[in-house]
Amino acid sequence: MDKQMQNFFNKRADSYDEVHISHIDGGIKTKEMVSNFVPQNSKKVLDLGAGTGLELKHVFQKFPSIEVDCVDFAENMLKKLKDKYKNYNVNIINQDFFDFHYKKSFYDCVISVMALHHFAYEQKLKLYKYIHKTLKPDGAFIISDYIVDSIEEEKEKFEEYEKSLEIKNENNEDVHIDIPLSLKTETEILKKCNFKNIKVRMNLKNTKLITCIK
Ligand SMILES: C[S@@+](CC[C@H](N)C(=O)[O-])C[C@H]1O[C@@H](n2cnc3c(N)ncnc32)[C@H](O)[C@@H]1O
Repeated sequence: MDKQMQNFFNKRADSYDEVHISHIDGGIKTKEMVSNFVPQNSKKVLDLGAGTGLELKHVFQKFPSIEVDCVDFAENMLKKLKDKYKNYNVNIINQDFFDFHYKKSFYDCVISVMALHHFAYEQKLKLYKYIHKTLKPDGAFIISDYIVDSIEEEKEKFEEYEKSLEIKNENNEDVHIDIPLSLKTETEILKKCNFKNIKVRMNLKNTKLITCIK
């Protein structure tokens, strides 16, 4: 488990909503749009990296009786989510994505917003295989995330990340470094995991929304 990232989000839970609504490319639009692609008849949804649940506001407006399993390793973020959505059907799961048990053909839809740009190629491949497994046939996977336009930028970011690891090791600082993949690499991984119908629904600077189907 990435303890430093977990600490990072636990410490920022109080200020998170304000910062993320106003300062991130695409702002709240990136969260709102997710609900447009949740399949109409969905009953069970998995939200990976649900945080304080910003993306769930519109999901619950459209689907008030939907059940959402919210996985996140930052307990303080999940406390905020639980307070916000007391009257809805949410299950709080305080776990790392890689420790969570992905039941076979269980969810109608998996969503993940701004939570998957911390994984290198092989880790992401592993995670997307779990997501594919846990979706029902024709289930939807919706990713809204920090994704860069070119392979060059992806390489640059990865090099920055590697350099930062040396500094982090020396100073033991409580930081986390983003390692966004490019749209091309994201698509390649999704295809390797047998996802179909991969579509880019929004591309606002480095924030992109991708949907695909099992
Ligand atoms: C930037 S926040 C996004 C929160 C929310 N989805 C949103 O868009 O506002 C990323 C979240 O992913 C969680 N996260 C990152 N890596 C994780 C991991 N390996 N396992 C579980 N949660 C993780 C963090 O704790 C954090 O709450």
